[in-house]
Amino acid sequence: MASHKLLLLAGDGIGPEVMTEVKKLIDLFNKKGLAQFSFDEGLVGGACYDAHKVSITDETMAKADAADAVIFGAVGGPKWDAVPYEVRPEAGLLRLRKDLGLYANLRPAVTYPALAEASSLKRELVEGLDIMIVRELTGGVYFGEPKTITDLGNGQKRAVDTQVYDTYEIERIARVAFELARKRRNKLTSMEKRNVMKTGVLWNEVVTQVHNREFKDVTLEHQLADSGGMQLVKNPKQFDVIVTDNLFGDLLSDIAAMLTGSLGMLASASLGEVNPKTRKRKALYEPVHGSAPDIAGKGLANPIAMIASFGMALRYSFDMGKEADMVDNAISAALARGLRTADIAAKGEATIGTTEMGDAIAEEIEKQV
Ligand code: NAI
Ligand code: MG
Repeated sequence: MASHKLLLLAGDGIGPEVMTEVKKLIDLFNKKGLAQFSFDEGLVGGACYDAHKVSITDETMAKADAADAVIFGAVGGPKWDAVPYEVRPEAGLLRLRKDLGLYANLRPAVTYPALAEASSLKRELVEGLDIMIVRELTGGVYFGEPKTITDLGNGQKRAVDTQVYDTYEIERIARVAFELARKRRNKLTSMEKRNVMKTGVLWNEVVTQVHNREFKDVTLEHQLADSGGMQLVKNPKQFDVIVTDNLFGDLLSDIAAMLTGSLGMLASASLGEVNPKTRKRKALYEPVHGSAPDIAGKGLANPIAMIASFGMALRYSFDMGKEADMVDNAISAALARGLRTADIAAKGEATIGTTEMGDAIAEEIEKQV
């Protein structure tokens, strides 16, 4: 059996609490002979700042670089509000994304049958929903130069952000998206605004070229990002995989997320180039939520987003699709039993804590072994 080296970076706030539940699953997988995981741990975010006055150390960066996958909790909180910008907790996560070259952000939007009521849309629109949004993460308007605010001297200022995309950046994100579509329902929708943006024109052209050259078997559709956003709330089940740029992806993935309910349920993966040493793709898996300082340390956090992120690691880093399905099924089963943390409970419903939810999911995995 192949052995896999994980780096666990729990962070601060509820990060360590939800990471504990992932460690339970790692132990379970090892004990049952389903996998051979080894893991190392490191400080990141506020936890690292308190110890080392930086939000991630070079030593931890080296470990992240050498790991087969990084499993990340959450960072941030009011405790570090006054900390210098370069070393604020979030900077640790940004450095990981940047230095590991994690250009593809995968955000699944999946409804769990037991929670279809949690959506802001009608049950019939979201029941059985399973979308994957692939967002370009290292380019576009968040990074393009020039990026300035200039004083025009007449009481006016001018702010400039620049959207830049090169062919290679669009090609590589398109490939990730096409490959995912191939393993799913074989449909990719590319979203941009070619009607008003040059980057949209190039995006459309390059995605079409990659399709024609390498992925003729996948159905490709193009939508303008604004009407795509409308379609996402009007008829979300028409989509399988959506690929889009950094800015539109930020918005569209948050919209898709709300189709499915609570922040405590949402997983993500960020993928980079194939590591020449391990021949695996660089990858970081993290829940979409933050450190939730309002409930940190109380044992109330929903561990499902974190556990589902670990499930994505099984699927996308370790080719353990069957085991990833076991994790997803276990989450569904625990929810079907009526188990609810406070964030996903209906008014008046009994709730359980982080540990109980983690235990129940582990139990439901064991039942499938
Ligand atoms: P947040 O996601 O931490 O919390 C928003 C709301 O959702 C809170 O009421 C929280 O209690 C609830 N919530 C979040 N995750 C939950 C879970 N697993 N179970 C139950 N309830 C949950 O976002 P917020 O409050 O905007 O940010 C708090 C801190 O986290 C800030 O410092 C922010 O910068 C940081 N942050 C970090 C992220 C990361 O590490 N990737 C992402 C987003 C925010
Ligand atoms: Mg966002």
